[in-house]
Amino acid sequence: MKRPLRLGVLGSGKGSNCRAIIEKIVGGQLDAEVRIVISDVENSGILKLAREFGVPGLYVRPGRFETRLEPENEEEIVRLLHEAEVELVVLAGFMRIVRQPLLSAFPRRMINIHPSLLPKFRGREAWKQALRAGERVTGCTVHYVDAAVDAGEILGQETVQIMPDDTPESLHARIQRSEHVLLPAVIAGIAEKLHRPK
Ligand code: GRF
Repeated sequence: MKRPLRLGVLGSGKGSNCRAIIEKIVGGQLDAEVRIVISDVENSGILKLAREFGVPGLYVRPGRFETRLEPENEEEIVRLLHEAEVELVVLAGFMRIVRQPLLSAFPRRMINIHPSLLPKFRGREAWKQALRAGERVTGCTVHYVDAAVDAGEILGQETVQIMPDDTPESLHARIQRSEHVLLPAVIAGIAEKLHRPK
């Protein structure tokens, strides 16, 4: 029998992408289940969101580095994801670079949403990079996560127009509206593939 794809969501911010996923699940448009939400930020919106929807939400201390986790904290995340029997890890605004042991625990089972049309504008605040570069179009990308930052195989992209009077905030808000459609759609595609009867 077909069962929902078990997701683990990692995020550091407000959690609007996680909300989009959960709302699609609740609305019956996505055959998945968020088993656990993990954050490196104790009072993040994404952990409040988990509470709102009755999903286990856990804070994992990031450790002493700014851009990555201590290996033992990553180990803890792997343990939590395995315990929750997660099949697909979704990085939804997770602001740390993923390394070992997390990468090898979920090979081709970890995806990320990035606010640009990769390979353009990797790294932080990609919408600001697009504005500064004078682009007229940008967008968002969902890709597999591997050792290279924002560079894994691309699974889906949406384009977003840049308006002449856009501010970083207005552009990011428009990109996010596209993210909220793209990310659940890509997850639905993966769920379909992974759970297709053999
Ligand atoms: C998104 O814009 C995503 O592309 C980036 O971080 C942001 C997270 O937003 N990686 P939210 O926490 O899902 O609202």
